[in-house]
Amino acid sequence: MQFKFHMPTKAYFGTGCISQNSSELALLGKQALIVTGGHSARESGALTDICNELTALNIGYAVFDKVENNPSTDTVKAGGAEAKRIGADFIVGIGGGSPLDASKAVAVLAVNEIEPVELFTNKFTTKPLPIVAIPTTAGTGSEVTPYCILTRNDLQTKVSFGNADTFPSIAFLDPRYTESQPFGVTVNTAVDAFSHCLEGYLGKRRTPASDILALEGISLFGRCLGDLKAAKITYEHRENLLYMSMLGGVVISHTGTTIVHGAGYNLTYFKGIPHGKANGFLMTEYMRFNYDYARDRIDNVMKLLKMGNLDEFGEAMTDLLGEAPCLDEAEIAQYAAITMTQRSTATNIRPVAVTDIAEILRRI
Ligand SMILES: [Fe+2]
Repeated sequence: MQFKFHMPTKAYFGTGCISQNSSELALLGKQALIVTGGHSARESGALTDICNELTALNIGYAVFDKVENNPSTDTVKAGGAEAKRIGADFIVGIGGGSPLDASKAVAVLAVNEIEPVELFTNKFTTKPLPIVAIPTTAGTGSEVTPYCILTRNDLQTKVSFGNADTFPSIAFLDPRYTESQPFGVTVNTAVDAFSHCLEGYLGKRRTPASDILALEGISLFGRCLGDLKAAKITYEHRENLLYMSMLGGVVISHTGTTIVHGAGYNLTYFKGIPHGKANGFLMTEYMRFNYDYARDRIDNVMKLLKMGNLDEFGEAMTDLLGEAPCLDEAEIAQYAAITMTQRSTATNIRPVAVTDIAEILRRI
């Protein structure tokens, strides 16, 4: 048994966790830049809560609320400039995956004289500013990962960076902040969190420790799945989904993702399909493709989800997400080629060729 387990983010979970632990903020400095998308941070109450605490602690702040879905390198460049302008000591990211990821890029750019494209080298002269991450969706797990995923229009896909210094210092996970999310977003993001647990559990870089967390996350998804299909969401479900999302984040911090994410980015970039939904469309065929290489594990996943087989799982995902888009052969060839440029093909348990990705896309 040989593995590394590293989770440097201090995570506080539960209702009121910001106000109960606000003394943590005072340790980070006197000036903060809040990085957000503008909508969910306000509607969830998270922005008000953090601003109240910063004010009470006499910490100055500015709000950069220009982060779009699937943030671009231009956006994080502007955020980095704003952090420099106000002399930020730390960054507070609030929102779904996009603002949380963007906050990591902003934290690096605030203290390094580099262009955003150089972020992907993962080598920074100066350590990024400390990051406080406050999720308003239960999906990305970005609050406990080092990853920042940005849209590269030059490469026509999403590309990630991240190293041991880009983990958030602190994560505040308050399930109430996810209550204002529309049902569709709740489902899509839950499927993303499940995908992190699933791909981590089946991927090449899994470890005994990541397996424990992945299995707990998969069980939690199984416990919520029936009610999600029936559009029934209670506070307890919100808690379970946010916990699953956090576990999934810790899992992929160790294992990375695999071809579900790699191929799914194409559906998001070219078809505008939300990230979690794109993953969900690919999952059944992903497991079918890998079945002979991970038979016991996939059978175990089905057992934890209380599913008889992959056909039944596929039907459940269609009930939850609707039908996948039809792709023509030119699109399939293009997406498969782009997927092969992603690191995530190397982590798949079964060796992957471009023709395999094309066949998975054809089958969905
Ligand atoms: Fe994801």
